Parts: sequence; C-alpha cells; structure tokens
Amino acid sequence: MTTALITGSTAGIGAAFARRLAAGAAPGGLAEIEGHAGRHDVVLVARDEKRLHEQAAELHDRHRVEAEVLVADLSTEEGISAVEKRLSDPRRPVDLLVNNAGFGNKGRYLEVPLADELTMLKVHCEAVLRLTGAAATAMRERGRGAVVNVASVAAFLPRGTYGASKAWVVQFTQGAARDLAGSGVRLMALCPGFVRTEFHQRAGMDTGNVPGWMWLDADKLVATALKDLAQGKSLSIPDPRYKVLMGLTKLAPRGALSGLTSRTGRRYGPR
Ligand SMILES: NC(=O)c1ccc[n+]([C@@H]2O[C@H](COP(=O)([O-])OP(=O)(O)OC[C@H]3O[C@@H](n4cnc5c(N)ncnc54)[C@H](OP(=O)(O)O)[C@@H]3O)[C@@H](O)[C@H]2O)c1
Repeated sequence: MTTALITGSTAGIGAAFARRLAAGAAPGGLAEIEGHAGRHDVVLVARDEKRLHEQAAELHDRHRVEAEVLVADLSTEEGISAVEKRLSDPRRPVDLLVNNAGFGNKGRYLEVPLADELTMLKVHCEAVLRLTGAAATAMRERGRGAVVNVASVAAFLPRGTYGASKAWVVQFTQGAARDLAGSGVRLMALCPGFVRTEFHQRAGMDTGNVPGWMWLDADKLVATALKDLAQGKSLSIPDPRYKVLMGLTKLAPRGALSGLTSRTGRRYGPR
C-alpha cells in the first residue's frame, strides 16, 4: 500500500483529500503513487489531536487502511521539523504529499496584526517550502512520487497577504515542477475558488455577498484535482466557472479587478 500525507486533514479540503485517498478510486495515470486498488494509507497532520484520532479511526474502520496521526502546528519550528522528519524517513516512504493546511486572517491590510501576517507566511510559504523539499528529495531518490500544494484563485488577484502567499505557492510549485521534470516526481499547485469548509467561519468572514454559484464542493474539487495530477498538470483550477473567471481577469482592467476582489467574501463580522 502506498502512503499519502495530508496537512490540515481534519476539516474542509484536507479532510476531503484524506477520504478520497483512503477510499481509493484514484483516477488512472497515477500508477506510480497508486495504492492497492487506488487506496492509500494516510498520515494525518493538524493541531487538534482529538479530531485527528477520530478521523484516523473512521478512515481505518471504513477503508481498512493504516491511518497515522501526526499532531503538528505548522506555524512553529517544532511542528514543521516533525513533519519534515516524517517525510524523510526512508523506512516509511510517503508517496503523495498534500500541503493543504492554511487559514485566512480577519481584516484588511494594516487591520491585521503583523504577527498574524507572519504566521500566515510561515504556514503558507515556509512550511510548504520545507515540506515539499523534504518529500521531493526522498521521492527523487526513489524515482517516483507527487506533491499537491493547495493555493487558491486568490493567487491571481490583488487580495492582501493571503493572495500574495498563494501566488508564491503557485510560482514556487510550477518552478519546482519544471526543475524536477523527468525525475519521476510530479508537483501541482491546486487553485480552488470559494469552497464550503470551516475556512471563512474560522477567519470571521461574512460570506453573505458571495453568490451561490461561486461555491464549490470539497469532494468534487478533490476528485478533479487528482484527475489533473494524473494528467501531469502543474496547475489545477478545478472548475469551468473559475477557469472562465480567471481568463476574464487577464482581460479586466487592474483597477476594476482590485475593487471587486477586495470586496467579495471580505466582509468581516464578529468571530
Ligand atoms: N475554503 C475556501 O474557499 C478555499 C479557497 C481557496 C483555497 N483554500 C485553501 O485550502 C486550504 C484548506 O482550507 P479549508 O477551506 O479546507 O479550511 P478549513 O476547513 O478551515 O481547514 C483548515 C485545516 O488546516 C488545519 N490548520 C490550520 N492551521 C494549521 C496549523 N498552523 N498547523 C497545522 N494545521 C493547521 C486545520 O486543522 P487544526 O485547526 O486542527 O490545526 C484544518 O484541518 C487552505 O490552504 C486554504 O487557504 C480554501
């Protein structure tokens, strides 16, 4: 059985990845990282230990896979090091890494304390850089493996430190994918639009002005992302609606774009 490590696995998109990878039914074309019948043992990473153990028990009981718990806060040196160490362990190889853990801050630029902005850069950029490096080094030695880095369509829009950090994820991942071409290691940046998860509530965002058609389902998103990975894409925008929107952003005047994107989904209520 091959193994997938998912950060931020206890909720939202990460939980959907864990469910999908444990259940199998991965699309064809992922032969080098496919487990038995497409199923994967999973290493579940997040901060909430109780929730991680509940999730591990459920995935093990339902799909008969090994589900390991790794409690780590990726905003800390200790947490990042612990996951790096797990990814580098030659006795327990990880075949697929999903760097998914992330969050939004409550407020616009200068309303958010600098310490919170720096924490975001640590989780979205430093952790992604270091965990991708640890995983890809081991994968390159074995000549196979894959990394999915969860960014956002915000990467393509002027949207504060969040958008800037996700733009870094996209550029970094696509550059690394090019550098590792031919090594057997695939890297893909995943750029979701609005997905119904705990994300917005945790960040104290009022999403009342986000139209219904803009919301995506996490399970469908993950299915499409894995299909894109199987097809060897280094960038996945997994929905036709957002593909069209992202195409339009290239044509729209920058000023109009920043006005619109700085408002949508960025009303902040009480947490
Ligand atoms: N939802 C959207 O509309 C949307 C759109 C585009 C991109 N994204 C991106 O998708 C990814 C997942 O977001 P989501 O929507 O699924 O959010 P979510 O439902 O709030 O889940 C976030 C996950 O990340 C974990 N996490 C947060 N901070 C962490 C830390 N410091 N260390 C370790 N784990 C941490 C959380 O678990 P614990 O609290 O237990 O640590 C949780 O499992 C993020 O990178 C986000 O930026 C989301």
